[in-house]
Amino acid sequence: MVSPFDVLNLDEDADDADVERAYRERVKEAHPDTGGSVEEFQLVRRAYRELSERDLNGSGPNGADGPDPADIDLTEGEGTGSIRVEFLDYEAVADRGWDLADADLFAKAADADLAPADHGRLLVEPDESLLEAAENRGFSWPFSCRGGACANCAVYLVEGELSQPANHILSEEHAERGFRLSCNGYPLSDELKVVFNVKHLPELDELRLPPGPFRRATSE
Ligand code: FES
Repeated sequence: MVSPFDVLNLDEDADDADVERAYRERVKEAHPDTGGSVEEFQLVRRAYRELSERDLNGSGPNGADGPDPADIDLTEGEGTGSIRVEFLDYEAVADRGWDLADADLFAKAADADLAPADHGRLLVEPDESLLEAAENRGFSWPFSCRGGACANCAVYLVEGELSQPANHILSEEHAERGFRLSCNGYPLSDELKVVFNVKHLPELDELRLPPGPFRRATSE
């Protein structure tokens, strides 16, 4: 059994300030960009959520209704990590002359009554990359190499965090501007909003590979 206290290396009488301090330390170590892993990062986030919400749940030292956080096993049960993703096809954005940086982009998409493949939601399981999750839910998102060597699977991150393993083709500037690769990107936040199919944007043009030898028979 691994309790939230175990994950954050805390004693069970830790107060909120201890939890905050431990979380800040552990989340840095666990981040995939600094030598951790997606699984570890998600575990640390769940541990923090359990402990920071313990009073709201009526559990822990200030209440008796909810489960004691010390008895929660983070390696078991539901909630081990399905992440909700709201997606939007860049083609729909371009066709309507919308701006990727528009803060109301997803609200506009919701009002526009787009086809389910163009705008909707899907769940990503902990062992799925974003691209795998889309494919496993029946969507045909673009890709080519599936290995970080092109920009065919690129998405634009509007909200949330998506891991970006080392040795991929996107520059730091691309990452800072919000571009990620869906073939090897794993959600690091509880919710995500992404625009997929951004491979035709001019800044990604030269990183694209032609579809062909890498393309799976099931793809578009
Ligand atoms: S498909 Fe080439 S980097 Fe993702």
